Amino acid sequence: MDLELEEDADEAERDAPALEDGRCVSDLNRDVPVAGAGEFAPLQLGPLQVWPPVVLAPMAGVTNLAFRSMCREYGAGLYVSEMITARGFLMGNRLTTLLASSSPDEKPRSVQVYGTDPKDLGEMVAALVEEGVDHLDINFGCPVPKVTKNGGGSAIPVKPRLVERLVRAMVSNAGDVPVTVKMRKGIDEDLITFEDAARAAESAGASAVGLHARTAAELYSGNADWAAIARLKSILTVPVLGNGDIWECWDALRMMRETGCDAVIIGRGCLGRPWLFGELVSVFNGEQPANPPNFGQIADILLDHARRLSDLFGSEMGIRQVRKWTTWYTKGFRNSAAVRGLLTRVNTFEELDALLQQIDRDEPFPRQALRMGRGKGTKRQKVRLPEGYLDQRDDDTPPKGPHTLEEIRAWERALNGG
Ligand SMILES: Cc1cc2nc3c(=O)[nH]c(=O)nc-3n(C[C@H](O)[C@H](O)[C@H](O)COP(=O)(O)O)c2cc1C
Repeated sequence: MDLELEEDADEAERDAPALEDGRCVSDLNRDVPVAGAGEFAPLQLGPLQVWPPVVLAPMAGVTNLAFRSMCREYGAGLYVSEMITARGFLMGNRLTTLLASSSPDEKPRSVQVYGTDPKDLGEMVAALVEEGVDHLDINFGCPVPKVTKNGGGSAIPVKPRLVERLVRAMVSNAGDVPVTVKMRKGIDEDLITFEDAARAAESAGASAVGLHARTAAELYSGNADWAAIARLKSILTVPVLGNGDIWECWDALRMMRETGCDAVIIGRGCLGRPWLFGELVSVFNGEQPANPPNFGQIADILLDHARRLSDLFGSEMGIRQVRKWTTWYTKGFRNSAAVRGLLTRVNTFEELDALLQQIDRDEPFPRQALRMGRGKGTKRQKVRLPEGYLDQRDDDTPPKGPHTLEEIRAWERALNGG
């Protein structure tokens, strides 16, 4: 994950004064009511029923087993792995295998697949089904130049017949296991692709379509276009999963009410905030959520997360992973600025523990941090596509992906998002 993309300018934002009723909710959402009895239904994906209708977004470098297991302990829903490269998985690349790993108590188990070769996709799906996976998703939204310039990721929906072919390759090997797709609105405002691509996915047997309501050119900038989610809902029969800018549990209710979508996908809002899933359970069950933990409780959660990362990756890689998380867990806290700077450079767990002893444990969660950017910055990009790519939009020839282990490793380093 590239921390360079993260921008901390928002740290300069003014403190948001506490609300008179003591709730930690933004001004935008202070009047949003909790769900009414029967207002929302569970998400149905094939035989899988998901309540509340909440999905943890696949996020490269983030939604590994360590983080998924934390989120699950706070809430319920569906917790998707980061994208797993089909070729790397099939060749037994060590890191790919680790990132695809699960634990026996992870039920339902959900894996996002990245691949452009129908044969690879079919084989990977068959292997995962054999392992007992409960849900599969395919990434059609990755905006990374190295990927799109080879016709992968968010370039795929430009060719609906290719979408259909790839989804079919998965569905025909998945048995009863539901296969969903996740895509963006399109390449840029001049090349919007989601409607045709979603129809193609539906006709190939996808159980639902997730829409990150931004174009690949927008990356993570600006506001997600929730109207596009409503539009998708109006043209599909299968469930629509809305994605983009759910920072607070209240946003999830608003998105579902405004767009009619069947479930929400939570991305950056849960970075350093796994308890968001507990808040989501509350509001969907018609209850007021608890306020977020204070700084001391968050320090304990961060240490717990660090231990889980170390169990998964080993202590050396684990601590390297922890560094980026310290930025997210401490976002917006004021009284411990000096310590926060040091946390991103920790070398050992003992150092992490010692630094966390120095924070002001009683500092309440800063209300202004609720909607602060996390995970990615606000840049846009010009999307790179293969030469002549737009000349043959009805072509279903799969683009060439990486093949050797070395190519796969270089590819995986470049893959950092959808
Ligand atoms: C660090 C990071 C990594 C991501 N990796 C993936 C990925 O592996 N697969 C994918 O489909 N989307 C990926 N995304 C996109 C998210 O799944 C989601 O679509 C996006 O963040 C928009 O949702 P949000 O506004 O709630 O953050 C990534 C996003 C972030 C911030």
